[in-house]
Formats: sequence, C-alpha cells, structure tokens
Amino acid sequence: MKKILITGAAGFIGAALAARLLSEDKDTYVTGIDSLTDYYDPALKRERLEELKTFGERFRFIKGDIADRLFVEDVMRSVRPDTVVNLAAQAGVRYSLIQPEAYMHSNITGFYNILEACRSYSPVHLVYASSSSVYGTDAKAPFREDAALLTPASLYAATKISNEAMAKAYSHLFGFPSTGLRFFTVYGPKGRPDMAYYKFTIRMIAGERLQIYNNGDMLRDFTYIDDITRGIALVINEGQSEGSEIYNIGAGQPVKLLDFIDVLEDELLEAGVILKRPEREFLPMQPGDVPETWCDTGKLEKRFGYKPETDLRTGLRAFAIWYRERYGTDG
Ligand SMILES: NC(=O)c1ccc[n+]([C@@H]2O[C@H](COP(=O)([O-])OP(=O)(O)OC[C@H]3O[C@@H](n4cnc5c(N)ncnc54)[C@H](O)[C@@H]3O)[C@@H](O)[C@H]2O)c1
Repeated sequence: MKKILITGAAGFIGAALAARLLSEDKDTYVTGIDSLTDYYDPALKRERLEELKTFGERFRFIKGDIADRLFVEDVMRSVRPDTVVNLAAQAGVRYSLIQPEAYMHSNITGFYNILEACRSYSPVHLVYASSSSVYGTDAKAPFREDAALLTPASLYAATKISNEAMAKAYSHLFGFPSTGLRFFTVYGPKGRPDMAYYKFTIRMIAGERLQIYNNGDMLRDFTYIDDITRGIALVINEGQSEGSEIYNIGAGQPVKLLDFIDVLEDELLEAGVILKRPEREFLPMQPGDVPETWCDTGKLEKRFGYKPETDLRTGLRAFAIWYRERYGTDG
C-alpha cells in the first residue's frame, strides 16, 4: 500500500494529481489537506474535491491550514505517509504585491511546518512545488536548474527560492530526501480563475477588451496540466533515497503571448464559448512580471525519461470544452 499526503489537494494541480495517482494504482491511498482559501472561488475547489469522492475510501480529505503546526503534526502522525507532496501555497505573482502576508503565512510558515513534520515522521520523501518564477529577471533562457537564483521579481518568487533553500538544509541536516519541482505556467480544464487564459476567457464572454501587458511582448512556457501531473507522479513513483533535488517541469516550448491568445480565441470560438474575437488593449509591463519563461526539460528527461506531450492547441481545446460544460455558452 502506498500512502501519499497531498497539501493543497483542492487546488488545480493538487486535485488533478490526486486523481492521477488514484487512477493509476489501486494500492495508492491519498490524504488531501487544504484550507480552501478564498483567493479564488472556493466553489471550484469543492467541485474538484467532490470528483475525488469517486475513489471511495482511498481518498480522504481533511480541511486545515499548513501554517497550523499542531494540525500538520496530527495529520502526519495519523497518516504516516511515504510521500508528502506539498502544493499548498499562496500562488500568483501579482497578488504578492497586494497581500504579502498570505505568502509569508502559507509559503514560509506553512512550508516550515511541513519540513518539521517530515523531520519528525521520517522516512518520508518530500516533493514540493517550486516555480519558474525563481529564475527572476536575469537567468539565461532556456532556464536550467543550475542557474543562480539572484533576481526574484516578486515576493512570491522569493518565497519559492526560500523553500528550495529550506528543503536543501533540512534534507542535509535531517536525512530525509526532498525534490523541488519548478512548474512553468500550468493551464487546462478546472484551472485557476486568476490566471491569464481564464481571465481572458471571462472578459471575452463579457464582451470586454483583453488587457495585454508588456504590449504582448512576452514569452511563456505554457504547460498542460496532464504533463505536470505525469511528471510529479514519475518523481513520486521513482522515489529518491537521499539528498535534495530540483527539476523543471515545463513544455520546453515558449510561446508568444499573442500567439497563445490567437489559439485560445480559436478554440473558444470552435467550442461555442464566444461568438466573436475580442478587441485588444495593450498595456505596459506589470510590476512583478518577467518578460520570458522558457524551460530546459533536459534534467527530468535524462533522469526519468520524461517528455511533455500536449501541444498548445490540444490543451486549450480541452480547456474550452470544459469551460463550456461547466459554465454553458454565456459564461
Ligand atoms: N499553476 C501554475 O501555473 C503554477 C506555476 C508554478 C508553481 N505553482 C505552484 O504549484 C502549487 C499548486 O498551484 P495551483 O496552481 O494548484 O494553485 P491553487 O491555488 O489552485 O492550489 C493551491 C491550494 O492550496 C491551498 N492553500 C493555500 N494556502 C494554504 C494553507 N496555508 N494551508 C492549506 N492549504 C492552503 C489553497 O486553498 C489551494 O486550494 C503552488 O505551490 C503554486 O505556487 C503553480
């Protein structure tokens, strides 16, 4: 029997990962924890959890906050997981300029509690979410894991760099293995309403202009949700016996933001979610943003034979179809 604890299990990536792990192996048991923050509509989080009920007793959900040390200890003591996947965090770059406390609470205090719990309840493999944001403004593209991380452009990025440093120190001092995964802009069905493709969709349905930052002169390595969860599952299943590792998980193919929007519009039109293309409004770069992300996928490929499989059109088609099914054609 494999016992996996996923934090942030009601989140976009957490719920999709739980579904994958439970579908792939009938001997896997997942405990999910999440505090169901209202950073975006918690109804979407509850819907994701509802779908996980189909796995019966192999999925258990416990509501709670990873910044609550006693809660984390209690869960670890009762579950005794082989692997902890820490996805709970305050996500989003721009919000970290408005609500920095949320980042200190979940990403620093919460992460520290997870490390302490892994220390107390070893042997355990800690797999945790980092981000392409750690590469900041100066890293040379395509981004490789051995780049120096000296120019975080936001507090969000700084918390993720801190997580990597904290995990390294704990693995080194207390002997439990940890693997940090730097995700590159994840998109897909049941995604996050705060992310650009989702917000663009809402604006298009409302007949509003799309607000495009840095005059559209941005490159993003958009990564489809299934490619992300497949990568995480590989890392969990292969395990790691000691030390700390960091891997990028991304498509490895940066796309110009305007090309991304073209494909999004095509697929929303095709799915009947919108009836016409929107107008576009070009705005300057936003504080906290970086002009480019581009994933070098070589390390994960060499170690696990991992390659992302989903092209942008296929991924956005799946998003558009899901959106129509969830919200109908009038949003
Ligand atoms: N989606 C992306 O493009 C992307 C890119 C890079 C990194 N990441 C990282 O991946 C992880 C998962 O991201 P996501 O896109 O699924 O985000 P998400 O917001 O959908 O999921 C995170 C979940 O964590 C929960 N949470 C937040 N603080 C908590 C706390 N203190 N205790 C318990 N639960 C808490 C939230 O309620 C939410 O359900 C995050 O660590 C995020 O920073 C995501």
